[in-house]
Amino acid sequence: MTDDLPAAERGKRAAAARALEFVEDGMKLGLGTGSTAAWFVDLLGQRMRAEGLRVTGVPSSSRTRARAEGLGIPLATLDEAGWLDLTIDGADEFDADLNLIKGGGGALLREKIVATACDRMVVITDPSKEVARLGAYPLPVEVVRFGASATMRLIAALLEHHDVDGRDVTRRPGGDGPYISDEGNTIVDLALGRIGDPARLNAALNAIPGVVETGLFCGIAAAVVVGEPDGTARVIGQI
Ligand code: 5RP
Repeated sequence: MTDDLPAAERGKRAAAARALEFVEDGMKLGLGTGSTAAWFVDLLGQRMRAEGLRVTGVPSSSRTRARAEGLGIPLATLDEAGWLDLTIDGADEFDADLNLIKGGGGALLREKIVATACDRMVVITDPSKEVARLGAYPLPVEVVRFGASATMRLIAALLEHHDVDGRDVTRRPGGDGPYISDEGNTIVDLALGRIGDPARLNAALNAIPGVVETGLFCGIAAAVVVGEPDGTARVIGQI
């Protein structure tokens, strides 16, 4: 019974339901990863069955692919789709400028590729993700496995020159050994506390050779939909 859901889940569901209103027949959709994005995939599947809505989804992870396939949502790779109309994804944090931290679910690389290969990225969240400044949530950074320890040392050294409150760099554990992403890389989490200049930090981290991508999404999201436990949702930005 979904009415027995915890408040945060009801908020996520409300955000997903509001974002579903932006979906039009024939669209090519980027499908995000995580528990909020899973609500969107579920509601999308329901609406397709109920209304005969036709869309093509491009999943940002193997988990989302499996979920969407189970619901009978037609899927394509990003190469097959070419360009997307809309991407709907969750976030771990967002600020007033719609900068995001993503990657808590370990899918940040494919998520950023999908989010930047579309006309509009819309983020769906519950209110707990809204922050005055990014950084309380540890920043995920996807790193090539070869020489990952050396890359981590370079990241730690780089952080000395950035406006952050913490500088701990840890390798994310997986089920059996380090976490491995869908693209075969590992993930390190940066406990920064506060990120003074997200765009500058993103550019600097991405200049380190072993870094594949960071979970900082700056200037990518067009809007954030914040769902409340009472089922209402507010939209920040332009859809
Ligand atoms: C996965 C992500 C997720 O969007 C992010 O972690 C939010 O997840 P959730 O909706 O479960 O809170 O970036 O890599």
